[in-house]
Parts: sequence; C-alpha cells; structure tokens
Amino acid sequence: MKILCVGDIVGEAGRHALEELLPGLKEEFRLDFVIVNGENAAGGAGLTPRIADQLYRAGADVLTLGDHVWDRPELVEYLNERDRIVRPANFPAGTPGKGWCVVTSKSGKKIGVINLLGRVFMRYNVDCPFRKLEDILSEIKLQTNIVFVDLHAEATSEKVAFGFFSDGRVSAVVGTHTHIQTADESVLPKGTGYITDLGMSGPYDSVIGQDKSKIIERFLTSRPMRFEVATGDVRLCGVVVEIDEKTGLAKQIVRIQRRKS
Ligand SMILES: [Fe+2]
Ligand SMILES: [Fe+2]
Repeated sequence: MKILCVGDIVGEAGRHALEELLPGLKEEFRLDFVIVNGENAAGGAGLTPRIADQLYRAGADVLTLGDHVWDRPELVEYLNERDRIVRPANFPAGTPGKGWCVVTSKSGKKIGVINLLGRVFMRYNVDCPFRKLEDILSEIKLQTNIVFVDLHAEATSEKVAFGFFSDGRVSAVVGTHTHIQTADESVLPKGTGYITDLGMSGPYDSVIGQDKSKIIERFLTSRPMRFEVATGDVRLCGVVVEIDEKTGLAKQIVRIQRRKS
C-alpha cells in the first residue's frame, strides 16, 4: 500500500496547493491514504475547525500538528471531539486531544499515526519523544503494524537519531517543522522509511512561508515584526511511502515536490 505524507500546509496558498495537486497525486501513485501536517494552515499559525474540514475535503485522511497546536483556541474542542486529528503525544498527561490514532483506510487496512515533538531548540518542555514512542507502540501494535510517525522537530541530529531508534519498529518516520525539505529520504537498514523533513506545502518565495522583507527586517533590527504569509512560488512537498502490508515495513520512499500552477 502507498501512503502520502504532506509537510506543513502554510496558509491559504498551501491549502490551495493541496486542493489542486492532491487528486493528481492520488491517481499517479494509486495512494491508499494521505497524512497531512496542518499546524500552519490557518494564516501560517495554527489550525481552525473550518480549515481542518477544508483539508479533509481536499483529500487528507489524518491531520497531524506541531508546536503551533495552541495558536487557535477554537481548535481545542475539535481536538477532543474528532478521531482523525493528532497533536504531539508527548505533551503532559491531561492535555486536550490525543497524540495518536488508528484509522481504517478505504481498502480496509488499519493505519496508526503518531505525532511527537522534538526537544532540541523547541519552545515546549515536553516528555522524551523516544520513550513516549515506546509507550505508544506497546498499545498501537495491538491494533496494527502499519505505523507512521510525524516527528515535529528542529534539530536534524534529533530527527536522525530518532529515525534509527525507530528503525524496524514503525513503517515510517517523517520529520516536519523546519519547512525546508531534506534530500535524505531512505529506507533505513531494518525497514523504516525515513526523511529528516518533508518540507512545507506553501509559498517558497518566502522565508519558511513568511514574507521575506519582514523577516529580513527582523534580523537587521532585532525588533519583533508582524509577519505575513507570502504568496509566490507555491509548492506541495512530502513523500510517498510504499508499505509491505504483511510486515508493516517500507519497501520504497519517494520524495515529492510539485509546483502549483
Ligand atoms: Fe512547527
Ligand atoms: Fe510548521
């Protein structure tokens, strides 16, 4: 089976890229399932229920999040109510929403999706994502051996280490958060598909999605600036992972970067 993971959708431009490009990708790769990181889909920061519904309509099966999860307070209730959306699992116990889910695909296969936050250069003091993964695997593996992890983290070292730590135990580990796609996609030695960062889905004529001039001004002045989501050179980024349904391990991983017309 083939599963597409799409990197951080940034603003309206990113949403439109998903709407325009996903139907063609579904056909081209005969996709069974689509996982989309939606943490920047609402104006570049956070997600709202209305925009989450829009991403499902565009073809997403499960939405993952990241450090922007709390930017839009109206999402909290939605996180509690809905089954196909996950926020980082390593927040403290009692945090609204859930950190992992198991969803049945159209072809009747159960697919587990876990969202975790890294701890290096990140703004939240969360629990250890490595140990949290092991806790979750002891439960999720009772239901399925097809398990995807969105590790939302800044440091490449933390993500690479996590990939090898997870190797052979999950179907794929995909990194998100930096908004810059890395070219290191591979099937690790024990069969886990891996990429350090999927890259954002949004405007690339920008500094990680935001208007260039505002960000440059902030670096020049060290003063806080109001950022605006950029508009030019819109692309959709991610990977397609082909999974062996018997073992739950990856056979192949293909990196995707497509321009919106
Ligand atoms: Fe992030
Ligand atoms: Fe992001």
